[in-house]
Amino acid sequence: MWLAAAAPSLARRLLFLGPPPPPLLLLLLSRSSRRRRRLHCLGLAAMPEKRPFERLPADVSPLNYSLCLKPDLLDFTFEGKLEAAAQVRQATNQIVMNCADIDIITASYAPEGDEGTGTLKIDFVGELNDKMKGFYRSKYTTPSGEVRYAAVTQFEATDARRAFPCWDEPAIKATFDISLVVPKDRVALSNMNVIDRKPYPDDENLVEVKFARTPVMSTYLVAFVVGEYDFVETRSKDGVCVRVYTPVGKAEQGKFALEVAAKTLPFYKDYFNVPYPLPKIDLIAIADFAAGAMENWGLVTYRETALLIDPKNSCSSSRQWVALVVGHELAHQWFGNLVTMEWWTHLWLNEGFASWIEYLCVDHCFPEYDIWTQFVSADYTRAQELDALDNSHPIEVSVGHPSEVDEIFDAISYSKGASVIRMLHDYIGDKDFKKGMNMYLTKFQQKNAATEDLWESLENASGKPIAAVMNTWTKQMGFPLIYVEAEQVEDDRLLRLSQKKFCASGPYVGEDCPQWMVPITISTSDDPNQAKLKILMDKPEMSVVLKNVKPDQWVKLNLGTVGFYRTQYSSTMLESLLPGIRDLSLPPVDRLGLQNDLFSLARAGIISTVEVLKVMEAFVNEPNYTVWSDLSCNLGILSTLVSHTDFYEEIQEFVKDVFSPIGERLGWDPRPGEGHLDALLRGLVLGKLGKAGHKATLEEARRRFKDHVEGKQILSADLRSPVYLTVLKHGDATTLDIMLKLHKQADMQEEKNRIERVLGATLLPDLIQKVLTFALSEEVRPQDTVSVIGGVAGGSKHGRKAAWKFIKDNWEELYNRYQGGFLISRLIKLSVEGFAVDKMAGEVKAFFESHPAPSAERTIQQCCENILLNAAWLKRDAESIHQYLLQRKASPPTV
Ligand code: BES
Ligand code: ZN
Repeated sequence: MWLAAAAPSLARRLLFLGPPPPPLLLLLLSRSSRRRRRLHCLGLAAMPEKRPFERLPADVSPLNYSLCLKPDLLDFTFEGKLEAAAQVRQATNQIVMNCADIDIITASYAPEGDEGTGTLKIDFVGELNDKMKGFYRSKYTTPSGEVRYAAVTQFEATDARRAFPCWDEPAIKATFDISLVVPKDRVALSNMNVIDRKPYPDDENLVEVKFARTPVMSTYLVAFVVGEYDFVETRSKDGVCVRVYTPVGKAEQGKFALEVAAKTLPFYKDYFNVPYPLPKIDLIAIADFAAGAMENWGLVTYRETALLIDPKNSCSSSRQWVALVVGHELAHQWFGNLVTMEWWTHLWLNEGFASWIEYLCVDHCFPEYDIWTQFVSADYTRAQELDALDNSHPIEVSVGHPSEVDEIFDAISYSKGASVIRMLHDYIGDKDFKKGMNMYLTKFQQKNAATEDLWESLENASGKPIAAVMNTWTKQMGFPLIYVEAEQVEDDRLLRLSQKKFCASGPYVGEDCPQWMVPITISTSDDPNQAKLKILMDKPEMSVVLKNVKPDQWVKLNLGTVGFYRTQYSSTMLESLLPGIRDLSLPPVDRLGLQNDLFSLARAGIISTVEVLKVMEAFVNEPNYTVWSDLSCNLGILSTLVSHTDFYEEIQEFVKDVFSPIGERLGWDPRPGEGHLDALLRGLVLGKLGKAGHKATLEEARRRFKDHVEGKQILSADLRSPVYLTVLKHGDATTLDIMLKLHKQADMQEEKNRIERVLGATLLPDLIQKVLTFALSEEVRPQDTVSVIGGVAGGSKHGRKAAWKFIKDNWEELYNRYQGGFLISRLIKLSVEGFAVDKMAGEVKAFFESHPAPSAERTIQQCCENILLNAAWLKRDAESIHQYLLQRKASPPTV
């Protein structure tokens, strides 16, 4: 019997006859059309191409997958055998599963007993692809220089179906018995520990490695790796065997991550009050890897640069990044793996939560990193920037088709998600928050949960109206701008607050302005680090009285920049706050937040950009790395904008003026007693000065670069990026050649990436072209092409145009390289966002209309919106910025 059903999106349904009675059909929802002919031979029917997305029916579900895979590392294929124990809940003549780019050889279903259970057997073959998704090949070079391949997996979000036919949805959990047939000299890893290893009967060079049964889990968390690796190992305080797998000969580079992981596991165990459920956890560095890292249960995969640290050659920011990524992925072992989102709509729960708690964990392991301040410039402000766009989306967004799922791995799910959880944690308090987390994880362990389930647990733990507050943050996009003005009433200060949606294009216009329930804290100069008052703003307008505030005291909203809103002060209030920047009496994260709010108000046309330039000048005494980092980022945005005008040089003068005092204070060499943040600050400031062409910095950078290249004095890892950037930007063809040679010689991926990211700084058109060609060459790992092209686009005015042309000219190759995955969105964003001419928005839109990139659709809309916003900003403020810079030059301000 043939079932003539409509086909699923992107492909067709594959049907074949099942065992009698009743006749049973196996439907594989496939995403491939490559093997159509072969499937026809097997009696499978092709179906129409377009169809709305549908979730799998719930009538048949897996209990256990017994899966054996035999990858061939030389001809890049794999053979698979699946025996799935299934439960049939409702009489049916079909089993619907997912499958993509797999050839089915045989399939059968045999019912067993009367309980509706049975065994589904499928034999299949597939290709170890080179697209960094599903079961794929990753290229590496052995210490002796030989090129070889490992077989590795990346299944999230919807690519387990590329490795074996399965019910590929997060809520369809089952246990897994996995075995791998591999060459006997290769390492074979999977989620669980090895329970058996025996010779493979048909081939003496192979062994069959069998792994212990997993707990019930979602398909996207299954993983296997076959390759050559070394490892370092320890046992965490709570008895878990932790290993870090590295490329052969680099085991030492795994030690830092090993230490972090061994500290992190007991930290989470304590925090959640739930033990880590598996006997082991492996962390492994994979050469070709699309994401930063992936939380597969018990076998976490990482890009090399997110796991490996070389004590001599790794810089401080890499160490910090490794700590954060390890903290993030290990948090998922509980939050995501043990309790899994019911559907991708709740992806933000996974990613937002992990992106918040990774900071808590790093703060625990490395208090000297002052990581929570860095959260504000890395996540909070980034999220606000994106979420102010008309083309943003709510945290909870309905998604169906895989390309829609890919699209939401963005700054809203990650950074806004993390920011609203941080705000919630602050609102609830750590004790009740922890209690609620434990309730949630205990109640839903081995199961699935939705956003409202977390709210319910936190509500029970805290007695606060969590769902009512949080729904305003997760179900509607955007966030409020709180306008505040003050009046002295005898000994008290009366504040009048009002909220309106903050839009990147200016104040919200229109009726029915969305409203939020905003936890607001208020501090005064009496005790800048303590909230004098905490309120929950649940109306459009509110008045509050602060008792005993003298007329000369300042009043500030959003202590610690925790509330997810921007603040606009009346001019009197703002004026009273500004001295607190210069004399540092405002806490660092409040200085940062104030500057960032003002910058975004200027960008939105609510205040003038010149006002912000004046505020930036008040940071002369600033000692804090993160405050500088945020300011530097904003100045970078302004420089890019001004690169469209003929006064780019003047803004470079401004950058030099702002950064010279701190540059002089820091010097080039670390002083005794300096720490992590000093190293980060020095790198940032010297890079900024060097890039802007600060003469003394440029000369010293050239001198040190020469010594480095000649082997006389190797640059410390923390100084390499700023020096490379400086010499390249102000260098010639020889400088670029030397950099490319350093790149070739570099043994560490971190060093290769460091170089790749600065190459775009070169200014000469021929050299820019050379860098772009290099980006697509064999020298650059496929996942890193994006940052090379992005670097060119962000490097200069000419680079911007050249990168866009390059993308258009090489679209097919680029799109094919990532098969539409999320790297294509990153590439597009990095490459077109800097334009500031109206017509470019039209050009970008038109290009992608004829060259569709479904998983990047929203990103493209956001980019076009940003281009128009830039253009409007330039039209509005270019002249006044220019005048201010000229006037400044004529009579420099006295500091
Ligand atoms: N679950 C993700 C990995 C992922 C990302 C899968 C995108 C599919 C698409 C993982 O937990 C993650 O979030 N990784 C981050 C690094 C993290 C430290 C922010 C990444 O890959 O960027
Ligand atoms: Zn994550």
